Amino acid sequence: MIDDDKKAAAEAAVDEVQGGMLVGLGTGSTAAFAIARLAERVRQGLRIEAVATSEASARLARTGGITVREFAGVARVDLTIDGADEIDPWLFAIKGAGGAMLREKVVAAAAARMIVIADGSKRVAAIGAAKLPVEVLPFAQAFVTRELAALGAEAVLRQAGDAPYRTDQGNVVIDLRFAVFPEPLALAAQLDSIPGVLGHGLFLDQVDAAYVAEHGIVSRLERRQPPG
Ligand code: 5RP
Repeated sequence: MIDDDKKAAAEAAVDEVQGGMLVGLGTGSTAAFAIARLAERVRQGLRIEAVATSEASARLARTGGITVREFAGVARVDLTIDGADEIDPWLFAIKGAGGAMLREKVVAAAAARMIVIADGSKRVAAIGAAKLPVEVLPFAQAFVTRELAALGAEAVLRQAGDAPYRTDQGNVVIDLRFAVFPEPLALAAQLDSIPGVLGHGLFLDQVDAAYVAEHGIVSRLERRQPPG
């Protein structure tokens, strides 16, 4: 059922893709549904190119017949479609359970529009229950762990089997949990100020819209414009 909702949200978002676009491809199980649908549209004749937020998504897209460009040579993306671990009514999101949040944020920043796709279990009244991943330069691991603990977080180095998990960039991830989640904008500023922190899963001003599906019904949330 959750997979049906992931697929429904993903397919609704892919309807926004138009010929000629350069599309950002997110990472994770919901993004995989979007990639599959986009590949289907490409096989039906849609002409687009893509950039991917992870090696896994690049492989999936190429296997489906989508042309994937190296992002290093790309300055602007038309539309990026990505999953999330939590999304709230302000379109604040936590991302990064799949470890791709740094590339995801760069691609989101380069995109004229970013859409989050999710099943209803990701929709929350306020973000903060999900673990918050932080990508860290391995050189700075102990220092950054100390700084993160000083913010009041339980900071756990992500493992893959017996070894530390490594991102596509070769960095480590420290997952944070807070007894009481801090004010997100202040927390993001604090994380951004720690040398050795390369990225984190707080997406506070990147998300323009979200397609969330629950029991087969897809709702679209658009970022509210500030009054005036
Ligand atoms: C990867 C992400 C994913 O988009 C997020 O974890 C959601 O994944 P899924 O769709 O598998 O639940 O941020 O870094």
